Amino acid sequence: MAIAEYLKHMFSLEGKVVLFTGAAGGIGSELCRGLARAGAAVALCDVNKEQLEKLQAEIEKEEGKASSHVINVLDKDSVVSCVKEVGDRYGHIDVLVNCAGINKREGFMDVKEETYDRIMAINLKGAFIVTQEVAPYMKKQNKGSIINIGSHNTGWVLGGCSIYAATKSGLYAFTKAQSVEWAKYNIKSNCISPGHIQTPLTTVTWEHPERSKYLLDRIAMNRPGYPADIVGVCILLASDASDYITGCEYRVDGGCISGGQPWPYDTEF
Ligand SMILES: NC(=O)c1ccc[n+]([C@@H]2O[C@H](COP(=O)([O-])OP(=O)(O)OC[C@H]3O[C@@H](n4cnc5c(N)ncnc54)[C@H](O)[C@@H]3O)[C@@H](O)[C@H]2O)c1
Repeated sequence: MAIAEYLKHMFSLEGKVVLFTGAAGGIGSELCRGLARAGAAVALCDVNKEQLEKLQAEIEKEEGKASSHVINVLDKDSVVSCVKEVGDRYGHIDVLVNCAGINKREGFMDVKEETYDRIMAINLKGAFIVTQEVAPYMKKQNKGSIINIGSHNTGWVLGGCSIYAATKSGLYAFTKAQSVEWAKYNIKSNCISPGHIQTPLTTVTWEHPERSKYLLDRIAMNRPGYPADIVGVCILLASDASDYITGCEYRVDGGCISGGQPWPYDTEF
C-alpha cells in the first residue's frame, strides 16, 4: 500500500459529519479548517454568525465541505434547533467538538455570582446540553466521537482562573463518564487540553513583557502554542484510527505540565 493510501485509510474523515461549537473562535476556526482538509463535512456552530460565514467561505474556497449554524449554548432552545438543523441537513452526526468557551480572569473573592454563572453556563452546562442532543444520533448509528476542548487548567491552575479551571475539570469528568457509559454504543469521548495558545483572545498576554516571560519560562518548548499545533490530535480523535482510545486527556502544551523550562545544570547533552 502506498503511503498516501495508507494514511488516508487511517486518518481520512471523508464521509464524516462534525458538529463543532465555538467554530468562529481562534482555536475553533483552525481546527475546523483542519477537519475539513482531512475530508469531513463541518457544521460550523457559533453565536458569531458573521465570522461563521467568513470561515465557511474560506473552507469552500479550498473545496472543503462546511455549513454555518447559529447556536447559543446558553439557550437550550437554540441548541435543540441547531442540532436538529445539522441532523436534518446531513442525516448523521459522527463527531462532536465542544469548543465554545469563555474566561474572565479575577481572584476567587472578586468573582461575582453572575460571572460564575456565565462561565459555568457556557463552558460546562453548554457542553452538557449540546452533548445530550447529539449523543442520540451517535447511539443510533452505533458509532461516534466526542471531543471536549478542555485546558491545561485541569492540571495546573493559573491564578485568577478558578471558575474556568472548575469548568474545564468538569469537562474532563464528563469525558470520563461518557467513555464509561457509552463504550457499549461504540461512542468514544476524549478531551484535548491546550496549553498557552496564542489566539486573537490571548494576544494581549503574549504582547505583555512580564506575562509572556512568565509563560515562556513555564513552557519547555519555549514558544507559545498556536491553534495549528492542536489540529493533528483533533484529526486523530475524529478519525477511526483512535477507535480504541476513550476517556483520555490529550495535553497540547509544549511541555508545560511536565515541568516547563529546566533550571540551569552543568552538563550538556
Ligand atoms: N486560547 C488559549 O490559550 C486556550 C487554552 C486552553 C483552552 N482553550 C479553550 O479553547 C476554546 C477556544 O478558545 P479560543 O482561544 O479560540 O477563544 P475564542 O474566544 O477565540 O473562541 C471561543 C468561541 O466560542 C464562542 N462562544 C462564546 N460564547 C458562546 C455561546 N454562548 N454559544 C456559542 N458559542 C459561543 C465565541 O463566539 C468564540 O467564537 C475555549 O473552550 C477555551 O477555553 C483556549
